[in-house]
Amino acid sequence: AKPVIVAIDGPSGTGKSSTSKAVAAQLGLSYLDTGAQYRAITWWMVTNGIDIEDPTAIAAVAGKPEIISGTDPDNPTINVDGTDVAGPIRTQEVTSKVSAVSAVPEVRTRITELQRSLATSAEYGIVVEGRDIGTTVLPDADLKIFLTASPEARAARRSGELKGADVNATREALIKRDAADSSRKTSPLAKAGDAVEVDTTALTLQQVIECVVTLVEEKR
Ligand code: C5P
Repeated sequence: AKPVIVAIDGPSGTGKSSTSKAVAAQLGLSYLDTGAQYRAITWWMVTNGIDIEDPTAIAAVAGKPEIISGTDPDNPTINVDGTDVAGPIRTQEVTSKVSAVSAVPEVRTRITELQRSLATSAEYGIVVEGRDIGTTVLPDADLKIFLTASPEARAARRSGELKGADVNATREALIKRDAADSSRKTSPLAKAGDAVEVDTTALTLQQVIECVVTLVEEKR
């Protein structure tokens, strides 16, 4: 069979990562977390003292870090200049700065190139999750899914992940990040015209996974 390319987009806390990883693992496909790549380049900017408020400074060094994503859904890895950054990219500091860095066009061009080359080289196909995969990165994907959920459900899921985090603070931070991601000029978070929208508010993770697996199987 020809490799199948699946794009899964949506705001934070909709279950994108859990769903994408499980679908890829079940179907024997590769998996790419594009948010991790934007977090990785943000981590590099912070570590190297680049002023996050200065898009020109960010643009000037956007090509410098070497970012390598491992695409095994059972062991997705992310390395910057040879350092494993899977832990450091999930800190609150990186989370609060990633929207500013990912809004810089030179950063997006760079990361988009990496994403396309990984997607086209996946032998059996790939599940790529992010914000602009169906609209910009892989407009010819075989299947495009757009996951949504109520802000309350999204905040509750995120606070569950970040043990002990305050639900209200988490909801505010999440709404702020989604607003920034949706309103940026270059390649904002958006549903592609031909994407299937799945509202996960009232669904269990298992139900969402089954729904997406069925949709992929229909395309193969
Ligand atoms: O998915 P995750 O929450 O890890 O994404 C982190 C951030 O990376 C998003 O808030 C967004 O600013 C950026 N991002 C993006 N385009 C993507 C994936 C993530 O701009 N395709």
